[in-house]
Amino acid sequence: MPQVKEIFRTMDYGPAPEANQDVIAWLAAKKDGFGHFIGGEFVPSKDGAAFDVFNPATGAKLAQVAQGGKAEIDAAVESARKAFGPWSALPGDTRARYLYALARLLQKRERFFSVLETMDNGKPIRESRDIDIPLVVRHYYHHAGWAELIESEFPNHKPVGVCGQIIPWNFPLLMLAWKVAPALAAGNTVVLKPAEFTPLTALAFAELCREAGLPAGVVNIVTGDGRTGALITEHPGIDKVAFTGSTEVGRIIRKATAGSGKKLSLELGGKSPFIVFDDADLDSAVEGIVDAIWFNQGQVCCAGSRLLVHEAVAERMHAKLKARLETLRVGDPLDKATDMGAIVDAVQLDRIRSLVEQGRTEGAACWQPSIAVPEKGLFFPPTLMTNVAPAATIAQEEIFGPVLVSMTFRTPDEAVQLANNSRYGLAASIWSESINVALDCAARLKAGVVWVNSTNLFDAAAGFGGYRESGFGREGGREGLYEYLAPAWEKKAEEPAPARKVDFSVTPAAETPAVVSGVPRFDRTAKLYIGGKQTRPDGGYSYTLYAANGAAVGQAGLGNRKDIRNAVEAAGKATSWSGVAGHNRAQVLYYVAENLEARTDEFTHRIASLVDGNEDAAREEVAASVRRLAFYAAHADKYDGQVHSTRSRHVTLAMNEPWGTMAICCPDEAPLLAFVSLVAPAIAMGNRVVVVPSPAHALVATDFYQVLDTSDVPGGVVNIVTGDRESLAKTIADHDDISAFWYFGTAEGSKEVEQRSTGNLKATWVNYGRAVRWADAQQGQGREFLRRATQVKNIWVPYGE
Ligand code: NAI
Ligand code: MG
Repeated sequence: MPQVKEIFRTMDYGPAPEANQDVIAWLAAKKDGFGHFIGGEFVPSKDGAAFDVFNPATGAKLAQVAQGGKAEIDAAVESARKAFGPWSALPGDTRARYLYALARLLQKRERFFSVLETMDNGKPIRESRDIDIPLVVRHYYHHAGWAELIESEFPNHKPVGVCGQIIPWNFPLLMLAWKVAPALAAGNTVVLKPAEFTPLTALAFAELCREAGLPAGVVNIVTGDGRTGALITEHPGIDKVAFTGSTEVGRIIRKATAGSGKKLSLELGGKSPFIVFDDADLDSAVEGIVDAIWFNQGQVCCAGSRLLVHEAVAERMHAKLKARLETLRVGDPLDKATDMGAIVDAVQLDRIRSLVEQGRTEGAACWQPSIAVPEKGLFFPPTLMTNVAPAATIAQEEIFGPVLVSMTFRTPDEAVQLANNSRYGLAASIWSESINVALDCAARLKAGVVWVNSTNLFDAAAGFGGYRESGFGREGGREGLYEYLAPAWEKKAEEPAPARKVDFSVTPAAETPAVVSGVPRFDRTAKLYIGGKQTRPDGGYSYTLYAANGAAVGQAGLGNRKDIRNAVEAAGKATSWSGVAGHNRAQVLYYVAENLEARTDEFTHRIASLVDGNEDAAREEVAASVRRLAFYAAHADKYDGQVHSTRSRHVTLAMNEPWGTMAICCPDEAPLLAFVSLVAPAIAMGNRVVVVPSPAHALVATDFYQVLDTSDVPGGVVNIVTGDRESLAKTIADHDDISAFWYFGTAEGSKEVEQRSTGNLKATWVNYGRAVRWADAQQGQGREFLRRATQVKNIWVPYGE
């Protein structure tokens, strides 16, 4: 027994274990193994395949779980399909009641779920009890509300269908909630696969679904490893895939679903910066870091794993941090006084060890506190790596463990540059007592979530998701719901766009008549338009465009790979366009509309000559294009963000930010209207674009640069490269400096674009070869275009003392 005076000296706590007999009893009742939850029943795998799951803190086997194969995924998809019709047809307020019932049941079992989560995953009970499970409950309540509102708040939208959802092991039940709640609220049904290390809370949740009387087949849970996951992503009966996990598997899934028409959202890895300015409250920042990187043993996609600290305070900061780490308690996750629990699996522990070792060999200094770490079980001490070069492996790779790497900076510019020196862009945390410095920095960071003087704040009402290789799509709040809805018109399959054959073989200057459709032909070959200048194609070649009646109309430049690269470079330089106020962009767009209208006759003849000679239709297309420009001019300063209602005394700003450089490939139908319908929303939102017009009608687009030139559109904002859309699209998809790519072309081209865009995981929007009725305001214009032209950044700013 320790002496009282001894205890006073050390201030040590005794063990305070959380009771777990309910969970033990529940597991004991399942000692023959868990089945999958398909069509409302628990069923074993047909071939009897199963695997064991363990408590990583003790090594004890917890349960045996079935390994799902093709038969199980087929059955689960079929049952979800069967359930989809009736479920999606329910009135929203009825679906709301089911979600509400799930929230209530979860709330009543908070302790049970917390203990089970901690035993399966190894995270401290303090975290599962105070963070994971309360957020789960909040998520269901929040989305019960959305179910109620879906019809009124999202008019002209439909649920996507059967959703395949694959989740990781770091927040097992929370990630399930992030996937299931919005899917169900919007009227979808799901086939979900939990991670192989942590399937137990998902199976307990399946029991709750039964208890809540959820119709059979609305939620199906199939357990298994990556092979089971792959069967889901490849299944033709799945309409949407939602994935959270490694960037590596995210890429595999992007490839596997390419061309299938499956909607996709990816929430991937990160290497999030934690920036401490010299005027920051260092003691608060230290507590922030503890929450940023030692929360959940650092196994957090948005963990603040890169400390960027102002040089002037780095030494003090490190000293304070080390002193704080000496007080962390690592050990039994079920102990209520434990700060850090176990690493989820031996594979992950090895990965952490080897990355830390690599850091050492690359020259970093490794510091660990002298605190006790259990010998048995999968534990790793909190670790601080200093003297780290920005290009070092440990500064670039996601370690996914309790390891902080620290670097210094001198100026805010340098801080932003270092912070953005990453292929990821999930989250960032900024510490400064100056709100100006903090918000200026927040605006410049490439990250989907930014916490000012705070870290790891989550709420169901705020969107969460990444920039760059951290994935695309958002989870939570209004922006998250779009991932489970589709515009009603998009759901109805359209007839394929009529393909217009173009001969790109290099031909001598066409023998064109001097006058076509009553208009003198431009007696020059149209050039490309790059950086505000007309430029000859790099290859020096042109191709001939013909009228519908077969007469040659003129020639356009045959752009190549180099031209695309030049155009991307020009777009990359036109950054001031993204920074000007929306109303400035509005003025420019109105001016474009005005100047286009002034050239109505010229464009009418041009369109008529290239399409079918129908002047009336062509005149209407020009008029519609003018109206469309005005529509997006009007929106330039109105498609603004939101202040989400999250926690009290927090402002959570959802800002719609432009992607930066976008690429657009235009379809063959409605050559001017489609061009305008795609380019106008993109630039209205502040993007700079590289556009490939319809090859058969390229001269419409090259005429358009005359309009751009006279309308104060800065050079580099719109770059036009004419030529073979299909081959240029490949170059675009491969290009890492393009963040988003809208491709409207063939089905095959759509597949190619999705497949190739995996390099930098650019966000793509493709038409799978289906025609869009551009003249129809439901299809050809609207908020969907603005939403696709932006990505949402959520900035959290707490206030008060
Ligand atoms: P993982 O990405 O392999 O696993 C995530 C989920 O994907 C699991 O359910 C797994 O069964 C499934 N999966 C694996 N291969 C698949 C495939 N080919 N098709 C479909 N589904 C598949 O992650 P893992 O191997 O557990 O961890 C490796 C690293 O990934 C970690 O060290 C960490 O850096 C990162 N990671 C990031 C997460 C995040 O939240 N961003 C979560 C988990 C891991
Ligand atoms: Mg486990």
